[in-house]
Amino acid sequence: MQSAITAGLEAALDARIEEMRSELRAHLRLSASEVDVVFSPSGTDSQLHALFVARSLLGPALTTIIVGSDQTGSGTVYTARGRHFNTLTAGERPVRKDAPIDGLSCDSVEVPLFGGTRDVRMRTDGDAAVLDAIDAVVANGASVLLQIMDSSKLGWRSPSEACLDEIANRWPDQVWIVVDACQMRISRRRMKTYLDRGYMVLITGSKYFGGPAFSGALLVPAGLSRSLDRGEGIAPGVLDYASRSDWPKRWSALRSRFESRPNLGQWLRWEAALEEIKAYYQVPDAFRTLALRQLEAGIESLIMLSSSLHLVGSGTKACGSEDEEFAHATIFPFTINRDRSPLSPDRCRVVYRALAQDLREVIGGSEADQAITARHCLVGQPVRIEMRDEEPTAALRLCVGARLVTETWSPDARAAQQNLQRELDRIADVVAKIELLLEHTGRMEFVELPYAN
Ligand SMILES: Cc1ncc(COP(=O)(O)O)c(C=O)c1O
Repeated sequence: MQSAITAGLEAALDARIEEMRSELRAHLRLSASEVDVVFSPSGTDSQLHALFVARSLLGPALTTIIVGSDQTGSGTVYTARGRHFNTLTAGERPVRKDAPIDGLSCDSVEVPLFGGTRDVRMRTDGDAAVLDAIDAVVANGASVLLQIMDSSKLGWRSPSEACLDEIANRWPDQVWIVVDACQMRISRRRMKTYLDRGYMVLITGSKYFGGPAFSGALLVPAGLSRSLDRGEGIAPGVLDYASRSDWPKRWSALRSRFESRPNLGQWLRWEAALEEIKAYYQVPDAFRTLALRQLEAGIESLIMLSSSLHLVGSGTKACGSEDEEFAHATIFPFTINRDRSPLSPDRCRVVYRALAQDLREVIGGSEADQAITARHCLVGQPVRIEMRDEEPTAALRLCVGARLVTETWSPDARAAQQNLQRELDRIADVVAKIELLLEHTGRMEFVELPYAN
């Protein structure tokens, strides 16, 4: 407020946002000489910014290839083709959803990851599918913006490192890579490796880090930044998707083309997200790893011990020391089985909604049961899973977020251990609530339930 009075609101906000770039880099152990930060209102908006950057560098004959198209944000199907993903842009201009964005429209190829079988594994021919897709696009004379996945809504990474090496060898100039790291379930070392290789990286403050929804950013390797800062020939449509202060100050020519439109909401959401990121990385490395290891072991065994939950899709990520604490899973997807069949996406949605409600009155039961059914449990939204020869199903997800680590940490090792156990007990209640819900529903049709809508 003080600097807004002395310097004026716009200048004060602009200066603060530039400082926030430095703070974000410091938390992620990146330097200004390595990476520039473009803030946005969401991971989906940042996908558009990445497309804008790629178009500026590679020209209009560009096709995007989206790896993990079945496990990314729901707006990606639009942003991948340079289309409006909503009826209002970030700059609050009303638009028609799915209409082309002026100067950004392009073709896109989807590479989904599900293998289509009941055990919900990653397809085994993922690398080959990515290489084939690039081959076909390049043979048609277009360049490629390849959006790779690390990691997806189910915690999967694709393609493999060997595949990325092959892409670099075969198409050194035709393929630009952007990493969908919006979930932020990625180590700082791995993120730096991606940036060092010249890849852009999409992040948010709102998923693993639990900051407010709608806080995205695009990390751009400094090498790319130098070729980017041009004020001319930019896609006009992108002007509705960013304001001046979203772009780094040193891109002066580019940012001068954008309106100065202070977005106080986006600023405040990122302030809150930065606090979460800072608090997380203030926790010692060893405890972050210990916490994620114990939570992984505890949650996996809770799911495996349940008669109706079925853990799916684990063990899909080849991890090493580069992954630091994220060598441990932080997303635990499960299907819910009744009469030996997994529940349909609609029924999973009913369970998802019921978990968030106080169901004491509806389900009744013992005092202990009521203590469980009263709890408001927030799990990851159902992810739809298409099967090859069967009806589709959906996975619900137990997700570990940064807050679990930040809030369980204590310099007193015993206290920290007790805190972790308390969290695991709370997670056990989620599993117990699902069991009680299934018992209560018996053979009833889910849609008839009072909490179905
Ligand atoms: C892997 C992945 N990428 C991108 C997104 C889109 O991010 P946002 O919701 O901030 O637009 C999501 C959203 O869930 C996601 O899971």
